[in-house]
Amino acid sequence: MFNIGIIGCGNIASKMAEAIRLIDGISVAAVASRDKGKAKKFAAQHCPDAKIYEGYEKLAAASGIDLVYIATPNTYHYENAIMCIKEYKNVLIEKPFSMSKGEADSIFAEAKNRNLFVCEAMWTSFMPLHEQMLKWISDGRIGAVRYISADLGYDLTDVDRLNDPVLGGGAYLDLGVYPTNLALSVLGDDIRLSRAFGRKLSTGCERDACYCLESLDGSALASFYVTMCANTVKDGTVVGETGKIKITNINTYRKIELYTDDDVLIEESEADGDIIRAYTYEVKACAEAIRKGLIQCRQMPWQKSSKLAEINDSVRAMM
Ligand SMILES: NC(=O)c1ccc[n+]([C@@H]2O[C@H](COP(=O)([O-])OP(=O)(O)OC[C@H]3O[C@@H](n4cnc5c(N)ncnc54)[C@H](OP(=O)(O)O)[C@@H]3O)[C@@H](O)[C@H]2O)c1
Repeated sequence: MFNIGIIGCGNIASKMAEAIRLIDGISVAAVASRDKGKAKKFAAQHCPDAKIYEGYEKLAAASGIDLVYIATPNTYHYENAIMCIKEYKNVLIEKPFSMSKGEADSIFAEAKNRNLFVCEAMWTSFMPLHEQMLKWISDGRIGAVRYISADLGYDLTDVDRLNDPVLGGGAYLDLGVYPTNLALSVLGDDIRLSRAFGRKLSTGCERDACYCLESLDGSALASFYVTMCANTVKDGTVVGETGKIKITNINTYRKIELYTDDDVLIEESEADGDIIRAYTYEVKACAEAIRKGLIQCRQMPWQKSSKLAEINDSVRAMM
């Protein structure tokens, strides 16, 4: 059995625990919360056989854990990850991986020194339709990519965490990382921020953001809109010289469609299963990499998370 420990018993941790139940050979062996009662309730609901810890340090120090999944607010990822790595644990860290490129690189350096596995839980990177879309592009089905667009918005105005700068709230860090990751997946690391414009909440967190990325060689542009105050369409397009790809929901990849340059649909694929199943792909990929003795996942390598963190820093600095 491959044993996962979960740090932070919140919203996404409960989805992840349900997803892990669907995977043979992988289980949630331990959960940690700041509040023992909360951890007990979480385990009873999602993973009755898991050990319960009050305090994250105790889980970090526990034996028999193959991977710790960190599902705390954005500003805690760095300290929680470093604590686990110092206890010689492999870690899967929720997105945004860290609050800065500096923090990200320091997590990677600590892990490398100890030959430990680290991965950003950028679940979209592991979805089969994301991989298929990248294959269409690498097979030359749309020619050289010229433009990417996407929006990603939910009405999250009532979510305390997203309104709180102390917890790393705001639309960009929770939602903007998805379109930025899409641009990095399609265009590679040689991209930079061109423009960013955002409107802020009274707390100082950004309510929404419009931003453009460009490839360093000038061949492609990307433009994105993210918001925490409205439910947007959430679709994306990748436009190439000889065709285009439409993505239905860049956050969950429900469908991808391949079109010719003159808009004739030539191929399409739909997602298998429900949204919970979509979380299983990243967990399986991490377990497989760790079993092979790897310290990174092919789907979300360290260099990509570091570059993503660099762009996150630039977008937030420009707004
Ligand atoms: N991949 C995805 O689809 C996805 C979706 C949503 C969120 N996320 C990411 O996952 C992370 C957690 O988001 P969430 O929506 O699950 O948040 P959440 O429901 O607020 O849960 C976060 C948990 O972190 C712990 N925590 C530690 N220090 C805290 C503090 N000072 N204030 C509040 N909570 C604290 C709490 O667990 P205990 O009380 O048990 O200690 C809390 O339940 C974020 O980084 C977010 O960006 C990812």
